[in-house]
Amino acid sequence: MNKPISDACDRNREPILKVLQDFITRDDRRLLEIGSGTGQHAVYFAPHFPQLEWYPTDVSGKLKGIKLWMHEAGTPNIQAPVRLEVGKDDFPKVKFDVVFTANTFHIMHWKEGKSLIKLLGHRLREGSRAIFYGPFKYEGEFTSPSNEAFDRNLKVSDPLSGIRSFEDVNNAMIKNGFELIADVDMPANNQMLIYSRLKFVSERS
Ligand SMILES: C[S@@+](CC[C@H](N)C(=O)[O-])C[C@H]1O[C@@H](n2cnc3c(N)ncnc32)[C@H](O)[C@@H]1O
Repeated sequence: MNKPISDACDRNREPILKVLQDFITRDDRRLLEIGSGTGQHAVYFAPHFPQLEWYPTDVSGKLKGIKLWMHEAGTPNIQAPVRLEVGKDDFPKVKFDVVFTANTFHIMHWKEGKSLIKLLGHRLREGSRAIFYGPFKYEGEFTSPSNEAFDRNLKVSDPLSGIRSFEDVNNAMIKNGFELIADVDMPANNQMLIYSRLKFVSERS
């Protein structure tokens, strides 16, 4: 098997790294990545955060490719990738300071998106951060014609996929005990949403 390659990862990794550097602290020890895909993000980002162990995860079919990237990179602070299929699996049983996921909300069905947010609420403790990269809609509007076309294309292959509403994500995060600490405009009409876990889960969750 050849290494899987995502050109998008090569394009977006620098801008994403800059934002991660603003929100990952020296005291953070473990970062869980959901939907690691090829593994390119993990092998590029992890060396920039030597204080952290990076935990890549994805559905089982992706793990081999991630291992190929890791083997080539030889990065010491990446754990072996494990299966984490949102909707079926729990997080690994360790405490995470940061959960990062890129370009997954529009692939996962909204039911799975809500499962992920619930898991974040259950498993993260006060001060931990959840960081989401990808395209979102605001007040029902796409942020660009290209995102609208992308959404249409996604729905051709899977009608339950599609660009999520920021308000839906944000409301679910608030219900599950998070506050939005930043919403950063990224190149190519993407966003980075950074949430911090509050002490108490709201009654409504
Ligand atoms: C568009 S790719 C993004 C991959 C990578 N994060 C990136 O930015 O290049 C979406 C990823 O989400 C994963 N995925 C889809 N459904 C998932 C689920 N229910 N649980 C975990 N990962 C899922 C896919 O296997 C795929 O690797």
